[in-house]
Amino acid sequence: MSTQDNREKDPNQVETTGHVWDGNLQEYNNPLPRWWLWGFYATIVFAVVYWLIYPAWPIGDSFTKGFNTITFEQGGEERTMHWNTRALLAKDMQTGTYAVRQREMLDQVAAQDYETILQDAESMSFVNAYAQGSFGTWCAACHQVGGAGVVGQYPNLRNDHWKWGGTVEQIEETLHQGRLGYMPGYRDTLDGDQLNQVAAYVLSLNDYSVDQEEADAGERIFTGTDGGCFQCHAMDAQGLASQGAPNLTNDLWGLVDVRGAESDSERQRLVANFIRNGAQREMPAFGDRLSDAEIKMLTAYVHSLGGGQ
Ligand code: HEC
Ligand code: HEC
Repeated sequence: MSTQDNREKDPNQVETTGHVWDGNLQEYNNPLPRWWLWGFYATIVFAVVYWLIYPAWPIGDSFTKGFNTITFEQGGEERTMHWNTRALLAKDMQTGTYAVRQREMLDQVAAQDYETILQDAESMSFVNAYAQGSFGTWCAACHQVGGAGVVGQYPNLRNDHWKWGGTVEQIEETLHQGRLGYMPGYRDTLDGDQLNQVAAYVLSLNDYSVDQEEADAGERIFTGTDGGCFQCHAMDAQGLASQGAPNLTNDLWGLVDVRGAESDSERQRLVANFIRNGAQREMPAFGDRLSDAEIKMLTAYVHSLGGGQ
């Protein structure tokens, strides 16, 4: 059938190359469309111009640099280099509109006091954008992206529960000089019953169901010399920021996974176990690693995360 078709086609309709195979097999000579051809020539011209302007061809262990140059500042001196993306970035960070605007805002916020920053929507939106980046760099490894922390290891910075205090001054001090949270272990001081009693008392302060007699005995340990817990957590168990000792009455647990416990007895065992072992954790100091302006940004950011005091 196909031979029939071929024979019916008029070979003169389209120009052929003149070759004939197998008697009737011919090759059409269709020129490329004009628009395509011009497009093709244009790419050649473009490439040649590009080679002249930008780094392009390897020569030995070097390359053609191109005529285009970039001038930027390095170590207080002006430096001119052939075009390359690293120099472009350096220049952009010095004179790009975004960089200039960022530096202006940084200076502006650094000059403001906290009260002004926290109330000024423009400053706060800059603080949030800027500090999110540096929080990711410096803090998220421990406190996690977003600041939710890890129970038992790194404090949650998103709730309004502060061991070392939630005013901007206290947060700034935390970041600047670091903090060492220390609670002694009671394994040699209290026996198993006493540990259970004081654990029952602490849980009763958060409305968990406990044995009332145990809790009463625990209260005497907490507020008396046997335990001396009050020295750090205060008589009302609401904590002392000067010691980094947390409030034990707000049902926000940073160290003992009380919320994760599945039964009353497991909860009591976890708390008793914690008191037996004690804890020591360190928040590193950033005063020597970050500028005052950066610490200010992070302080305002962390303060706003937790709805600070
Ligand atoms: C190496 C891990 C680590 C890094 C990095 C780290 N922290 Fe901490 N941070 C801790 C630990 C652990 C504590 C708890 C210290 C304690 O037990 O008193 C803490 C405590 C804090 C507190 C006090 C919380 C409270 O309840 O008072 C704040 C605020 C804080 N960190 C903010 C930051 C910020 C902001 C950064 C980044 C600049 C940062 N941390 C980096 C481990 C870290
Ligand atoms: C020397 C001060 C000090 C004494 C004394 C002390 N604590 Fe603590 N306690 C702390 C500190 C500091 C923390 C937080 C540790 C950290 O963040 O690394 C803590 C944490 C806790 C926690 C964990 C709270 C949470 O958020 O998960 C409990 C429970 C607790 N203490 C109970 C007690 C009891 C009960 C006693 C007495 C038997 C006691 N503490 C005595 C300083 C003290």
